[in-house]
Amino acid sequence: MQKESDMQDISSPSATRKSPGVSLIAAVANNGAIGFENKLLYWLPNDLKRFKALTTGHTIVMGRRTFESLPKGALPNRRNIVLTKNAHFIAPNAEIFPSLEGALEACLTSVNAESVNSGEVFILGGASVYREALPLASRLCLTLVDDTPEQADAFFPWLNPADWKVVADKAHEADERHRFAYRFIDLERR
Ligand SMILES: NC(=O)c1ccc[n+]([C@@H]2O[C@H](COP(=O)([O-])OP(=O)(O)OC[C@H]3O[C@@H](n4cnc5c(N)ncnc54)[C@H](OP(=O)(O)O)[C@@H]3O)[C@@H](O)[C@H]2O)c1
Repeated sequence: MQKESDMQDISSPSATRKSPGVSLIAAVANNGAIGFENKLLYWLPNDLKRFKALTTGHTIVMGRRTFESLPKGALPNRRNIVLTKNAHFIAPNAEIFPSLEGALEACLTSVNAESVNSGEVFILGGASVYREALPLASRLCLTLVDDTPEQADAFFPWLNPADWKVVADKAHEADERHRFAYRFIDLERR
């Protein structure tokens, strides 16, 4: 279950600095779960398709543990940024930053050699990076998976409904390729 300490109240004005262009993208279960033992909980082909369509050509920012969980390392056709305090961490085809603030500053003000469209930055997780980035986000691209896994150790942060409005919501039934029903929900900061 989501721990109290995992939750944050982002309703106070000082905590809600709006940074246009920062989007969080995540697949989240009914109980807020997003991962277990540094693995994703779900393999939903349509979710992967949407993830690819949304993030290709843009900058993606992720924590070191999420980067390590990617089966083939850095994702192609995107500017990959990995957060770690470990200055010796090796992340082929990715850039390393020791702070989220530094990473966002760099990617909101410059375009890297691959000429990605750096106007938009997607925060890829995991839990710790979602928590830190939520107050800076203007948009959330969520896949809500209709499942309540008992085995989970990483959770999406609590969202204050007063801060977010749903701008798109598309429901999909489970089928032979998708074990669970799911919804694609986009939210924008009010
Ligand atoms: N469902 C989804 O959509 C989704 C998406 C992504 C990930 N996940 C899941 O989330 C879980 C991983 O989340 P997690 O919270 O354990 O790990 P994480 O956020 O991926 O990585 C944590 C690590 O990132 C570095 N880091 C984080 N914030 C930093 C900052 N501000 N400055 C510098 N370094 C920073 C630190 O690395 P160092 O220790 O090296 O300093 C920290 O230990 C996995 O289960 C994964 O599958 C789910």
